[in-house]
Amino acid sequence: MFQALTPLPPDPILGLSIAFKADTNPNKIDLGIGVYKDVNGNTPVMRAVKKAEDRILKSQTTKSYVGPVGAADYNERVAHMILGEELYNSLGQRRVTVQTPGGTGGLRLAAEFIHKANAGATVWVSDPTWANHIPLISAAGLNVEKYPYYDYASHNVRFAEMLTCLQQAPKGDLVLLHGCCHNPSGADLNQEQWQAVRDLAREKGFTVFIDLAYQGLGNGMEEDAYGVRLLAESLPELIVVSSCSKNFGLYRERTGAVTLICDTAESTAAATTLIAAAARANYSMPPDHGAAIVQLIMDDPDLQAEWDMELTDMRDRINGLRSLLVERIKAAGIDKDFSFIEREKGMFSFLGVNLEQIQTLIKDYGIYLVNSSRINVASINDNNIDYLTSSLAKVLSS
Ligand code: LMR
Repeated sequence: MFQALTPLPPDPILGLSIAFKADTNPNKIDLGIGVYKDVNGNTPVMRAVKKAEDRILKSQTTKSYVGPVGAADYNERVAHMILGEELYNSLGQRRVTVQTPGGTGGLRLAAEFIHKANAGATVWVSDPTWANHIPLISAAGLNVEKYPYYDYASHNVRFAEMLTCLQQAPKGDLVLLHGCCHNPSGADLNQEQWQAVRDLAREKGFTVFIDLAYQGLGNGMEEDAYGVRLLAESLPELIVVSSCSKNFGLYRERTGAVTLICDTAESTAAATTLIAAAARANYSMPPDHGAAIVQLIMDDPDLQAEWDMELTDMRDRINGLRSLLVERIKAAGIDKDFSFIEREKGMFSFLGVNLEQIQTLIKDYGIYLVNSSRINVASINDNNIDYLTSSLAKVLSS
């Protein structure tokens, strides 16, 4: 039966990493996959994470199973992190957090949970959105529709068009929003826009589903949770999928969570059984190591302070690189206005070059970026920025 299989094209993001590794160009730059890199181009293990791992290694007494919803203490720390102290307390039994294998595992689990709650649901996703959103939501059997989001010409959110489109989303449908650091555009909703989405959700009755993969990488841990918290305090239901891949640098440890807010304690209890059953039927239970690290860091004031400082350094570096890139692009003699990169947030922005120019950057210069022209700003450093901007200048002028 396997002889009839047709191979699939490479993954639009992960496929780039493979091609990058195989490239022998000594100047090559990987602007593809969203991982943080330091001034030397490395993705180091955070110091607080190393210390927590060391303690876990010494003190762990069992590798016994944890259960489909993961570690209860980790789940509480994550709920606290995304909701903040006040809402964490006030939502009481209307909230539940379930540990998942990374943010992607959380999205898939949430999609399966939605399918159980309403098999005919449509999930409305931003146009554009993360390259894996549509495949994974569709794989769970849900319908997907797009709403307008990013204007490639003005580099702004097409907010009026987005709201008009979402008028069509009825009760029973889901609207997927990026909590912060929109992937791939870096263009986020401002506070008034979050409030308008909240008002529309109230009026239409659709359920908001937030992907919060980059909390702390935009403006700060608290600031980046503005939308999540606004909606959590004012809507009867909310789904939030969060990830510790980026803000704790735990990428390969697969450390994420789904947080559900339901209208009553009874529906929360019922939802918990459904989501636990979905986890059990998929992977039985999530991996433990990353969650144990996060839990330990959040429980220890010294480790938490150290982690917070490291995260602040990462965020400041990314924001600094955004300004530096705009400045160096100008200095390289490029006329086109790239100042939007400085206004956008998180790891990503679109470079706004066309497919042919992207192919030239990859093939002739070893500069790897996603086909949409998404670049990972965090991959830029003092050693590669001149090569990047001079190559871009050549490609844009040819
Ligand atoms: C990205 O968007 O590059 C990251 O979220 C990594 C991934 O899994 O695609």
